[in-house]
Amino acid sequence: MAAVSYQTQGEVAVLTIANPPVNALSLPVRQALVQALQQAADDAAVKAIVITGADGMFAAGADINEVASGLVLTPPVTRDVQAQMERASKPIVAAIAGVAFGAGFELALACHWRVAETRARVGLPEVKLGLIPGAGGTQRFTRLAGPEAALEAITAGSAIPAARARELGLVDEVAEDALAAAIALARRAVAEHRPLRIASDVEDRVRGVDPGLFTAFRQKIAFKARGQLAPGRIIDSIEAACTRPKEEALRLERQYFFECRDSAQREALVHVFFAERAARKIPGLPAHVQALPVRSAAVVGAGTMGGGIAMSFANAGIPVAVLESSRAALEKGVALIRKNYSASVARGRLTQKRAEETLALIHGVGDYAALASADIIIEAVFEDMKVKREVFARLDQVAAPGAILATNTSTLDVDAIAASTSRPEQVVGTHFFSPAHVMKLLENVRGQRTSAQTIATVMALGRTLGKIVVLAGNCEGFIGNRMLMYYGAEAEFLLEEGATPEQIDRVIEDFGFAMGPLAVRDLAGNDVGFLIRRGRKLPADERWSPILERLVAHGRLGQKAGRGFYRYEGRTRIPDPEVTALIEGVSRDLGIARRQIPDEEILDRLLHPLVNEGARVVEQGIALRASDVDVVYIHGYGFPAYKGGPMYWARQTGLARVVETMQRLAPTHGARWRPAPLLEHLAASGEDWDNAHEAKTTHNSS
Ligand code: NAI
Repeated sequence: MAAVSYQTQGEVAVLTIANPPVNALSLPVRQALVQALQQAADDAAVKAIVITGADGMFAAGADINEVASGLVLTPPVTRDVQAQMERASKPIVAAIAGVAFGAGFELALACHWRVAETRARVGLPEVKLGLIPGAGGTQRFTRLAGPEAALEAITAGSAIPAARARELGLVDEVAEDALAAAIALARRAVAEHRPLRIASDVEDRVRGVDPGLFTAFRQKIAFKARGQLAPGRIIDSIEAACTRPKEEALRLERQYFFECRDSAQREALVHVFFAERAARKIPGLPAHVQALPVRSAAVVGAGTMGGGIAMSFANAGIPVAVLESSRAALEKGVALIRKNYSASVARGRLTQKRAEETLALIHGVGDYAALASADIIIEAVFEDMKVKREVFARLDQVAAPGAILATNTSTLDVDAIAASTSRPEQVVGTHFFSPAHVMKLLENVRGQRTSAQTIATVMALGRTLGKIVVLAGNCEGFIGNRMLMYYGAEAEFLLEEGATPEQIDRVIEDFGFAMGPLAVRDLAGNDVGFLIRRGRKLPADERWSPILERLVAHGRLGQKAGRGFYRYEGRTRIPDPEVTALIEGVSRDLGIARRQIPDEEILDRLLHPLVNEGARVVEQGIALRASDVDVVYIHGYGFPAYKGGPMYWARQTGLARVVETMQRLAPTHGARWRPAPLLEHLAASGEDWDNAHEAKTTHNSS
């Protein structure tokens, strides 16, 4: 099938991009567009052109494989197609159904007019791949919608719903049937001899813009965009649209595009893009196994996690029943859910009507019998094996025969939970992250007896809920929390040796993490952290630092107590001399001479344990691939996506160097610094994580 089909409807030529699955603008599509545009230009019977996409989708963007390989730069590039469109003497209208993102939207922006289907979305998400739009996107968007809207939308990479795009001036009409409306618009343009509207020449919104706007916006996103190249270049480019002549601004955009394309950040983000997709594939899952439909759900426990999980279902349009241990607890849980929706309405993220409709999908129920119709039941009660087993035994009695029983446990043995039911093959872990309706990661956990169909169902469910899904094996802490153990412990060892909480958190936040390890502890509650730690087995030659326990003993439970590793005024953390004294006391008691610790050492000491435990997790098959570990750390633990995740970071650093650093630190810092066998094996053989599976097999058999 041709990459672009050409049909005529009377005097209108309809060019349909057909490049499944998402109509990406690959080289064959660009070549076919050039030809089809020429054919329309040459045909005297054709008076106007409509460009649309096959299968209900305009075009989702450039071909990411081509971005990585450089083929995206092989002529005709998108800019060549656009130049041909803007030279055309016949009106060109884009008919946008589904999505027009990235280069797809840039193509639409070079049409004279745009009609979007009611449910369509448009946007320039290049920033998510460490790029800036390189085919005039920053220029035409700014000229049509003004710099304020462009700054917000392009630095965030937002998807803009059709109605909003219409308000902003990015599309000209919204219609139920975009193609029919676009053809009608093209005919009107011909009949009325409308002057062709070239977006890159529209002037009124880019004249007389206050230069302070850009300074203020740079400040506004400074923290969020710290360390990243693309957001700053997007602002520069939008500023150029407002301050430079058209040709120069377009040239600058191109220059910034190349700078970003050639950056390590772009490479890391493309790695993450492919890693997220690879994570959905489960080797060995028989092809005939189909995910079961999830039409209704139930959640047991309406605390921090249960409430957020229920919201995730409701947000996806799936009715969900919520069961608690008492009426009072249920009321409290539902009140919190209601408060969360009100807050979204207050922030303008949700309309009142939509909030009410969504809330109406969440039903508090009084007993187990009410869970009988759910296709999946997710347990989110206290992290206590006895309680969980009791709950599962009850669920087993009431749940529909085909229903899946899932646990949100963050550390406990899924097999032991499954053993309290008569249907262990339908029991699985669905580990959400807090807050569950916001955090993107869903770490599904496969028990020994979990069936292929159950796995297929929770993997598909994750996507229905808008999550990024990874499958983990069953062990204490699965992928993410297991890796966190030595990372968290190391932060406290650094405190004992002379670092301060501020220094440690600053180093990690400067690296790009959303939050440093001690700030995270304070957020999650030091009492909770201490309890989890107490329940864990440590190798005989390891120890925990007593710092956490002493903080708890002093009532420094974290943010909720207004004091933990820091003192808190609201959410602002303030260094506290009392904490310094407490830490110095620990160093004294342990006979450790405190020293000035360089920032580089702090970073090394915190990242290596993550990589090392990550290697064990891969070696033991807990993670299916190293890139799954990256996905977990980026979407669940705030690791900067533009650095590609811990395993990717290790590869960029060089696995041999990682092993060297560990061997250097092992004599002074203990057994936990011994490199994982897989890491040593790969470093010695010069192989990469990509070969980890084969290496693992060889290693195990050697
Ligand atoms: P929570 O203490 O906020 O909520 C637990 C809720 O379960 C309470 O409202 C309690 O009344 C209810 N409950 C207890 N026993 C029950 C029973 N037999 N029947 C019905 N309801 C019962 O705890 P949270 O933080 O929501 O944790 C729940 C689970 O999620 C735990 O397994 C935890 O390890 C896990 N988890 C927690 C995360 C977090 O950041 N808080 C993150 C990921 C997982």
